[in-house]
Amino acid sequence: MFETLDTLTPESILGLLAAFRADPAPGKIDLGVGVYRNEQGITPVMKAVRLAEQAVYADQDSKSYLGPMGNDAFNTSICNLVLGAGHAALAAARARAFQSPGGCGALRLGAELIRKAGSAGTVVHVSDPTWANHVPLLTGAGIRIASYPYYDAATGEVRFQAMMDYIDALSPGAVVLLHGSCHNPTGADLSPAQWQLLVDVLARRQLVPFVDFAYQGLGVGVEADALGARLVAEKLPEALIALSCSKNFGLYRERVGALIVVSQDAAQLEAAMSHLRAISRGIYSMPPDHGAAVVARILGDASLAEVWRNELSQMQARMRTLRVDLTRALRQACPDRDFSAIERQHGMFSLLNLSPAAVDHLRETHHIYMPQNGRINVAGLDPNAIAVLSAAIAALPSALR
Ligand SMILES: Cc1ncc(COP(=O)(O)O)c(C=O)c1O
Repeated sequence: MFETLDTLTPESILGLLAAFRADPAPGKIDLGVGVYRNEQGITPVMKAVRLAEQAVYADQDSKSYLGPMGNDAFNTSICNLVLGAGHAALAAARARAFQSPGGCGALRLGAELIRKAGSAGTVVHVSDPTWANHVPLLTGAGIRIASYPYYDAATGEVRFQAMMDYIDALSPGAVVLLHGSCHNPTGADLSPAQWQLLVDVLARRQLVPFVDFAYQGLGVGVEADALGARLVAEKLPEALIALSCSKNFGLYRERVGALIVVSQDAAQLEAAMSHLRAISRGIYSMPPDHGAAVVARILGDASLAEVWRNELSQMQARMRTLRVDLTRALRQACPDRDFSAIERQHGMFSLLNLSPAAVDHLRETHHIYMPQNGRINVAGLDPNAIAVLSAAIAALPSALR
């Protein structure tokens, strides 16, 4: 049977990683990978996670099945973290979390639920550009994708009016995928005022937001980053929020996330949950527990939660400092170009507005690795990488600038 299969070329980011590993150059720099790194270039196990893991191991007396919705304590505490304890949708019992294998699992669950609830060929409108993995996650569930204008490469800002015009013309029931914070790949986020205006249009046009929320706490802060998710859950009858604990708890390989469903009322919420149970049973049956148990333990213990919040805010502050330092270095090295948006953007990623040929040149000549779209992981930088990258961009041959 396998003779019918052609070997696929590796997904571009995985191909990039393989090329980086194979490069023997001692000073090579990896700005492609999508994980947080500290000053030592390590993706650490967070302190609160280590402590919570010890407590989980000490207490756990069974590994028996939990069920398709996963860990109840996790689902409750993650709703409180994302929406804020006492949020109106929680008080009205019209919002609930369904644990998933990571944020990708939550996005796929949401896509499957949209397809079940909508007519065949349902369209989800995503930002231009959006995270590359949105495409297989959505289309794999039978969803079609359309793009709304989002990013202005010349200014590094959101094309907010163009985005609003597009969304204002959608038909009732259309689903709009939004990045809750730290837009991937651009780092260009909506301001609080823009979120308010957007939510007004979503409500007026009876649209359904699908918020991808993978970076809570890594943009501005845990509460500020949740503004969009909280607003849609408050002002709209229906919404989906796909969240990930990969980055903000550093639990990447443990696969922890959840789909929060916001519904008109408790009865419709239960109907949606029953479908999610059937969907998860048909794909992977149940999510893995360990990471969710760790997150539940952290969020359920005031002192552990404080340790976690402090470490997360140090990570956020480090990326902010790197953004300031990179912008300054680029301003000095390339006074003829405007890189100031990097400083205003949020989270792990920014686009350098380089041509694919320039990206190839940086890799081949300077051993600096980034995907073809010029996306850099700010957390992959350090003072040396900032100096090398700025000098390399300044030295680009004029044909490639
Ligand atoms: C925008 C976005 N959404 C969702 C995810 C999901 O991540 P995971 O499935 O590892 O939790 C990521 C991870 O890189 C992401 O960047």
